[in-house]
Amino acid sequence: MREKMSTETSATGSFGAVTAERGICFGGDYNPEQWDSSVWREDVELMRRAGVNLVTVGVFSWARIEPSPGVRDFAWLDEVLDLLHAAGIAVDLATPTASPPPWLGIRYPETLPVDQDGVRLVPGSRNQFSPASRVYREHALAISRDLAARYATHPAVRMWHVGNEFGQVDFGDEAAREFRRWLHTRYGGVDGVNTAWGTAFWSQHYADFDEILPPRRAPYLINPTQSLDFRRFTSDLLRECYREIRDAIREAGATQPITTNFMGFFALVDYRSWADDVDVIADDQYPDPADPQSAVDIALTQDLMRSLGGGRPWILMEQATTAISWRSHNLPKSPQKARLDSLQAVARGADGVCYFQWRASSAGAERFHAAMLPHAGADTDLFRGVCRQGADLRLLRPVVGSTVEAEVAIVFDWSSWWAAEEPARPTERLVAMEQLGRWYRQLWRRGIAVDVVAPDADLDRYRLVLAPQLYITEPDAAAALERAVERGAHLVVGPFSGVADRNAHVLIGRSPALLREVMGVSGEEWCALPDDDVVLVGDWWQQTDGAAEASILGERLRTDGAEVLLSYADGPLAGLPAVARNSRGAGAAWHLGAVVSDAVLSKILGEAAAAAGVRGVVPELDVLPDLLEAVQRGPVLFLLNHGTEEQRIPVRPGLVDLLTSEATDHVVTVRPGEVRALIERADS
Ligand code: GAL
Repeated sequence: MREKMSTETSATGSFGAVTAERGICFGGDYNPEQWDSSVWREDVELMRRAGVNLVTVGVFSWARIEPSPGVRDFAWLDEVLDLLHAAGIAVDLATPTASPPPWLGIRYPETLPVDQDGVRLVPGSRNQFSPASRVYREHALAISRDLAARYATHPAVRMWHVGNEFGQVDFGDEAAREFRRWLHTRYGGVDGVNTAWGTAFWSQHYADFDEILPPRRAPYLINPTQSLDFRRFTSDLLRECYREIRDAIREAGATQPITTNFMGFFALVDYRSWADDVDVIADDQYPDPADPQSAVDIALTQDLMRSLGGGRPWILMEQATTAISWRSHNLPKSPQKARLDSLQAVARGADGVCYFQWRASSAGAERFHAAMLPHAGADTDLFRGVCRQGADLRLLRPVVGSTVEAEVAIVFDWSSWWAAEEPARPTERLVAMEQLGRWYRQLWRRGIAVDVVAPDADLDRYRLVLAPQLYITEPDAAAALERAVERGAHLVVGPFSGVADRNAHVLIGRSPALLREVMGVSGEEWCALPDDDVVLVGDWWQQTDGAAEASILGERLRTDGAEVLLSYADGPLAGLPAVARNSRGAGAAWHLGAVVSDAVLSKILGEAAAAAGVRGVVPELDVLPDLLEAVQRGPVLFLLNHGTEEQRIPVRPGLVDLLTSEATDHVVTVRPGEVRALIERADS
């Protein structure tokens, strides 16, 4: 698989071909339509100064290209692309389809999405389209076809960008018809839907497809499988919109890579099911500078993006140089922090670092949003910082095309996440994403690389497999996990796993269903725990720092062969096992029957990693200093200091910092906000 990847990345028309020629891509959304053409030349001149080599053009330019129905104005775009090309700046040309002009919605109200309450949204913002609307899709296709026909062979165009951040949902009548069609394909007939949705409950039986609706506002709880299927349907429908435009671009003769921008762990789209449809994974990331821990969460997102692409380089398509404008209180970033954020993405596999947007808007809803060129112009610390980034990225060329090798897999699945968060369950305090983040953090602080994988992924190359909450457990996934343990991997499974099948029906029998044997424990009840944390005890717990406690949710477990590591000292589950380990085949399975405190989680994951033979990239340190991130990408060891203290990190001798040319020997100093990119010295 890895070998196949390397041919793919170097193929003409691939993202690998772009970076092989240009190095790491650097730039941002360029919206020249917001400015008089007299500004464009200055833009290009400053882009060159900053080392910009890729800009995304035209994302929101539909009204400019098609000011009234059927009219086309490409003259301005011709000029912009020629200008950029003359300056050696590549273009990621966007279809303008995310923001239809007002005339479309006014003439064809059916193109406008309807929300869950039946309210039809109006033009005046952006994204006012229904992915189910035939009329919208015909218009979006028509403008995309013309755009592609005109620019498929334009030398500036090195990539295509379909729409923007697909994520629209429609609960209207046209969406209802499409939903029924989707259900028909999935279940064959209305009986299949009745069975899958369990409609015998509350008299929800459907006699005919026409009775089935999207999960609109209803008097009380909606059928959970109806909600789950509507989410799956919406994700598939959006993918269909993406695909038809992508195909139109190809049919017009374009050979460049085609993509669209994801939004991390976005709740409305199952990006794993989209991953094969984009030629390069691209993601938009806006961590909150007010949250010092956001570096860890964003690292998890970046690992997801790398994993979605099977390890191939991805693009950080949008981020902010300083303050955004859409939170209620928007802290700025220093230029150093912006640099740290960009280099973090590179460390975790990005070969493109881009921003929203090139020049700060003076009008419109995002007039206070950061850009690469601020309102105050080029004589600013911000712009000097942007130029410095451009220079730094050129120095990092040795990582281009390389990946981060992980021996640890963390299992994450959109359907399972969606189903686990349907209302009416033992506790709403168990939040799948929070637990995923807590588990991931334990690996991050040890400098251990992690891939984010599907439940039924090929686990052969992983020594440690983590499933913080595998709510939906399907037979294939259970078998894959069991096989991994038999072959020698360590598996750690968290509470409220093995609960439901693909239809979100609770699996019958003791839990975790399908995983009972490998875990060597089984349970009969999920118990929300009282507000006061419950103390856990056991000989295995020798630690004095940090408490052994459980909170939120526990399971009424018995062991079926596993060794009990911790039991509940009191509370509703007093005396029962909370954490157990089961040796099996050449490996072991660790079961966490409760949400355990950080100290316990740290000990479990630390021991499981050690037992699996997994070490961090700074082997001298079991745990790295607070907020010090360490990642090995290809030949380069990245050390990034997100904290406020200077850190001294032991490294092997004979390295040199690509960013400073400084040779290092045994120990390297990483100041707050600083990044080290260490590579073997040529002479060592
Ligand atoms: C993104 C979007 C951009 C811009 C940015 C602001 O979600 O794609 O167009 O709105 O947010 O942070």
